[in-house]
Amino acid sequence: MNVSDNYRAAWESYWSSTSDATGEAIWDADPSLTAAPHSALLLPHADPARTVVDLGCGNGTQTRYLATRFARAVGVDLSHAAVEHARSAAEGTGVEFEQLDLTDLDAVRALHTRLGDTHVYMRAVIHQSEPPARPLVAAAVAELIGADGRAFVVELTPASRDVLARAASGPDGPPPKLRRVFDHGLKPAAAPDGEITRLLAEAGLTVLADGDTTLPQTEHHTDGTRIDLPAHWYVLARE
Ligand SMILES: C[S@@+](CC[C@H](N)C(=O)[O-])C[C@H]1O[C@@H](n2cnc3c(N)ncnc32)[C@H](O)[C@@H]1O
Repeated sequence: MNVSDNYRAAWESYWSSTSDATGEAIWDADPSLTAAPHSALLLPHADPARTVVDLGCGNGTQTRYLATRFARAVGVDLSHAAVEHARSAAEGTGVEFEQLDLTDLDAVRALHTRLGDTHVYMRAVIHQSEPPARPLVAAAVAELIGADGRAFVVELTPASRDVLARAASGPDGPPPKLRRVFDHGLKPAAAPDGEITRLLAEAGLTVLADGDTTLPQTEHHTDGTRIDLPAHWYVLARE
């Protein structure tokens, strides 16, 4: 399966209308708040000499950090415009990016054939994917890590919806970066309670460690506090 035309167009229009400015995307938090603590959770289970692939890497902010912790980092994203942002921000660093739809099993297999078993980093992709795509995204994680890689997956939980509703409830409606998400038809935290845990298990992934966390955003509530979205993280291996 490939994603629907509407879904692909939503992401393409979002990233095409986003500049290269750091933090313009609401989830584009500094790696010190995201990929750095996530790497600290993954590395006790993972060989840093192995390649890491950042699935749904967006503009590559976290991928560039991962390249400092692992021998090689490759970011893949559905959106051509996202990959262009990522390449331009990473110019001269050796970090690689390519356009890839995680629901395209042939493309995922070809990537695995090229790179071998890799580690995977995936932040905030399944929670907003279309329902038929979610199992395929989980399966892509399993395909890429193979027998020897490990995955770090962190996804928004349904509790994020309450925080987003609070953020949108000010007198002026959603703050600008959140408004852009809704204006492009993106659907954060759409996956129902328990679904992501179930899909990872059904993809043949076993949980080595997991826990609750938040994903800090680059946008604030009307009272000036940062929007931190409830999330759950997993370190995973193939059963
Ligand atoms: C919420 S953003 C998170 C971006 C990045 N992981 C981060 O944490 O900064 C979700 C990203 O996943 C990408 N994406 C969504 N569905 C995808 C798919 N089927 N295959 C590959 N990328 C996808 C989107 O284009 C978008 O860049």
